[in-house]
Amino acid sequence: MQYGYFDLANKEYVITRPDTPAPWANYLGDPEYGAMISNNACGYSFVKSGANGRISRFRFNSNMALPGRYIYIRDNDTADYWSASWQPVGKPLDQYKSVCRHGTAYTIMTADYASVHSETTYYVPYHQTYEVWRTKITNTSDKPRKLSVFGFVEFTNDNNYEQDQVNLQYTLFITRTSFEENRIIQHINENSGKDASGSNHKERFFGMVGAPVSGWNGNLDSFIGPYRTYSNPIAVEQGKCDGSMNYNSNACGALQSDLELTPGETAELIYILGQRNSAEAATILDTYKTLGKVDAEIAELKNFWHKELSNFQVNTPSPEFNNMINVWNAYQCFITFIWSRAASFVYCGLRNGYGYRDTVQDIQGIIHLDPEMAADKIRFMLSAQVDNGGGLPLVKFNHNAGHENTPDDPEYVKETGHPSYRADDALWLFPTIVKYIGESGNKAFLDEVIVYANGGEATVYDHLKNAIRFSMERLGAHDMPAGLHADWNDCLRMGAKGESTFVAFQLYYAMRVIRDMAQQRGDSDYVAYIDDIQAKLGASLEKCWDGDRFIRGIREDGVVVGAKKDPEASMWLNPQSWAVISGFASKDQAEQSMESVHRILNTPYGIKLLDPPYRAHYFDGALMHIFNPDTKENGGIFSQSQGWAILAESLLGHGNRAFEYFMESSPAAMNDRAEIRVMEPYVHGQFTESTASPYAGRSHVHWLTGTASTVMVGCVEGICGMRPNADGLVISPSIPSSWDGFTIEKNFRGKHLSIRVENPSHVQSGVKSLTLNGKELSGDFVPAAELKDQNEITVVLG
Ligand code: GLC
Repeated sequence: MQYGYFDLANKEYVITRPDTPAPWANYLGDPEYGAMISNNACGYSFVKSGANGRISRFRFNSNMALPGRYIYIRDNDTADYWSASWQPVGKPLDQYKSVCRHGTAYTIMTADYASVHSETTYYVPYHQTYEVWRTKITNTSDKPRKLSVFGFVEFTNDNNYEQDQVNLQYTLFITRTSFEENRIIQHINENSGKDASGSNHKERFFGMVGAPVSGWNGNLDSFIGPYRTYSNPIAVEQGKCDGSMNYNSNACGALQSDLELTPGETAELIYILGQRNSAEAATILDTYKTLGKVDAEIAELKNFWHKELSNFQVNTPSPEFNNMINVWNAYQCFITFIWSRAASFVYCGLRNGYGYRDTVQDIQGIIHLDPEMAADKIRFMLSAQVDNGGGLPLVKFNHNAGHENTPDDPEYVKETGHPSYRADDALWLFPTIVKYIGESGNKAFLDEVIVYANGGEATVYDHLKNAIRFSMERLGAHDMPAGLHADWNDCLRMGAKGESTFVAFQLYYAMRVIRDMAQQRGDSDYVAYIDDIQAKLGASLEKCWDGDRFIRGIREDGVVVGAKKDPEASMWLNPQSWAVISGFASKDQAEQSMESVHRILNTPYGIKLLDPPYRAHYFDGALMHIFNPDTKENGGIFSQSQGWAILAESLLGHGNRAFEYFMESSPAAMNDRAEIRVMEPYVHGQFTESTASPYAGRSHVHWLTGTASTVMVGCVEGICGMRPNADGLVISPSIPSSWDGFTIEKNFRGKHLSIRVENPSHVQSGVKSLTLNGKELSGDFVPAAELKDQNEITVVLG
């Protein structure tokens, strides 16, 4: 079933059937003011934090009666009413036509019902801390119409999400609303002192301009009415907001405008929601009396985002690839970069910090689009590295670099719930930093001095050396990095001294990266040191080869995890892909292990994380056994790992396989089977249920997932073959042999590259010739020094 389509030219996903299998969401705003909105206008808003700055309500884990940003329209001649989004009123779809356009940081919904056309645009103005809903209502009949329009939002009673939801004996009694001129003001903890520092006093507003306000409600129960819901509010049904305000009850903002529209006439109403006092709200509202302000602000948002996305645009024969890489995967990378795992329709915002590994990986997804934005976050994450070389497992949103406790301090453990370091955290810095230096050419980055989380400072280069030291000081019995509390897999505990091959491959890769850096810097002692320890690590890893696969690790008690002979979990994806990515696997091992991946783990919806899933033969540290088989880490198609598989296959030159994995797991490729996937067909999720589930193919945990960045990297570096390094750009695509070629428009270090890849012999990889501005170069490398402002690059495969 298809519910919508990709509009590549406008960088929008257009939903033409509003009865999508789940609310399909979009993100508006930035860290200062965030908002999520579905194709039916449900969602919520918050200032700075989804958990501690929540201003409007949402109902998690339910698709029923969802609060949102609702605009109701009532025909006062017939008493019929509907909403400007299909839900919440939900008129029959044979009479109600709606189109929702999710764009880059804005969403537009149009509706046609009873000869009234409405067009509502929702957005947070660029770098502002409030949101705008602009609705244009047109009488498309040939008769004059009398309409009432109601804008509505359900406020929380407390900025803390949990307090608002559960501590009702307190939060019900701290708010009241009032009406002033064109706005409802919600006062919270008013008696705690308006100006006193440390006061909890807050004011929110919901106001409007564009039409006179003819009625209002600040009391949720009065607007909705008893035993009713958002689909049939009594105020809308009766055509009259009764003016009541909340006091010791739940608050809302509802503003009614009575309109008379001649045939063809349009009214434009602008609602604004935010956390500001009444005077500030009045000033903001006044600015929207200026005609054209909304359109200018939408244009500003589009300009900003489209410019970011324009830094890398690809044109291949695959619309799925183009739509994801040019728009939706890229936008999702920015969203995960900005929001980490903070707030979605699944995460309610209570995780008040950045996961070290998550964020360092998320950064990778935007490096090719905005390397300097990435660099700022890299600096921040380096300042969350402890002076022993490990990363803080959770970096608080109010991280105070240089003054933080560490997992060695009981206070940190108590505050964050993280009892220990994790073996992998700081190792993610290597691929991220090497990609940044490649994209930007900023070799001096390695000399920047950055503070450690717990005090002291070092150059970036020394931070990286320290990360190697951290692993080397924590080796297990087989000379591979010890698992500590966990590796990438949150559900795998092999014991503090247990060893993970995944981390060992990461360390092997890190050694490759730092060896190059050391060599460039003339740090020959360190090169010699790395040569020595890398050879030893390699010897240990060699023993982890089990016929046609690498094992997953060795537990503290010496038992192997992921041995070929094991009855369950005998085959794991990540050690195979990382054996290739790290450069460790021999040609034979690489070919065999990736072939085993395809044979054992592949499904029509992507590659399983492990197989068979744990049912009866788990050990205590195999925490994933608590999940249903073929779900999440217990044999689900863990989407983040698809990106590494795409990259590994590409590095092996297997373009067909890489693209097969891309298509299987690509949201866009499920657009015409969206009822199976359920989640947005333009967004990656955390995992997809695999074949042992009765709901195979259904995806979960939308938007905020490391999948965005790994798949992006797999496609850009792998399939497109764009691999910048400190001195220039390697171009080595791995594409389906059926492609005649493809093109890329890329901004690179302030210059523009127009790259044409031709595939006359229909191979999967291998560069036959490379021409830069008419000059033939040898190999697949474009030296940065030879680039002009505008460059024509032709790559012929064969
Ligand atoms: C989730 C976590 C991430 C972890 C992954 C695998 O995505 O956010 O940190 O690596 O699961 O367990």
